[in-house]
Amino acid sequence: MELFTFLSIFLIFFASPSDSRLFEGQCRERPTPVVNSFTLDRYLGVWYEIEWYDDEYPTDDECIKFSYTSKQEQDAFDFLLEVRHMNDSFKYESFKGHGVVSFPNDLQLPGQLNTTYGTGPPKRVNYEILATDYENFSFVWDCHNVNTTFYNEKFWYLARDWRQSERPAVVESLLKRFFDEKFVRKTYHGPE
Ligand SMILES: *[C@@H]1O[C@H](CO)[C@@H](O)[C@H](O)[C@H]1NC(C)=O
Ligand SMILES: *[C@@H]1O[C@H](CO)[C@@H](O)[C@H](O)[C@H]1NC(C)=O
Ligand SMILES: *[C@@H]1O[C@H](CO)[C@@H](O)[C@H](O)[C@H]1NC(C)=O
Ligand SMILES: *[C@@H]1O[C@H](CO)[C@@H](O)[C@H](O)[C@H]1NC(C)=O
Repeated sequence: MELFTFLSIFLIFFASPSDSRLFEGQCRERPTPVVNSFTLDRYLGVWYEIEWYDDEYPTDDECIKFSYTSKQEQDAFDFLLEVRHMNDSFKYESFKGHGVVSFPNDLQLPGQLNTTYGTGPPKRVNYEILATDYENFSFVWDCHNVNTTFYNEKFWYLARDWRQSERPAVVESLLKRFFDEKFVRKTYHGPE
């Protein structure tokens, strides 16, 4: 059982490069500023992935749900990622992670988080909130250079309600201006 769990985690997070859809080149600058006056308390809770942009993970993960909960320490949180494997009878799997507000002492309180699924402190800003109204939607961006030839750029368009059908105007506009629709993938959530 332990070994099986380890293996599945291994497969998900260290999947072979053939599972990746990497872009050739190096990361561009963040296309637009992150939100300011970020309020972690309002951001906590459940977010469903509605659409995503590219990803290094295998793509049989559906029904993706993130639950963020507060921690004792200031500006820190835990989260739970829940997925179902589309190609395996919708088998349920979950992963625990944790994170911190990236720059809690910056007076602007930028909407940037360092998150990780590993143990130990998360060391990289990898969750940049380009837009959110806290109550309905969030648009999160990340990019990192895999090596000197390839980069991996992602976004997650999240919503409080998995039935969210129309993109909010700001999400639509970010998508049109900065991303290629052909790499956008819709996350399957239902019949239930
Ligand atoms: C960069 O990473 C890609 C994907 O893992 C790999 O195919 C390629 O050989 C690597 N290039 C270099 C220069 O390491
Ligand atoms: C589901 O697809 C992933 C790749 O997307 C693959 O690694 C995995 O073995 C598949 N599982 C089954 C049960 O077919
Ligand atoms: C988050 O990661 C960045 C590096 O990307 C680092 O400069 C910053 O200090 C980290 N924040 C925390 C609270 O650890
Ligand atoms: C969230 O959406 C609802 C329904 O459209 C709307 O009434 C509410 O004002 C929105 N919340 C914010 C913070 O914009």
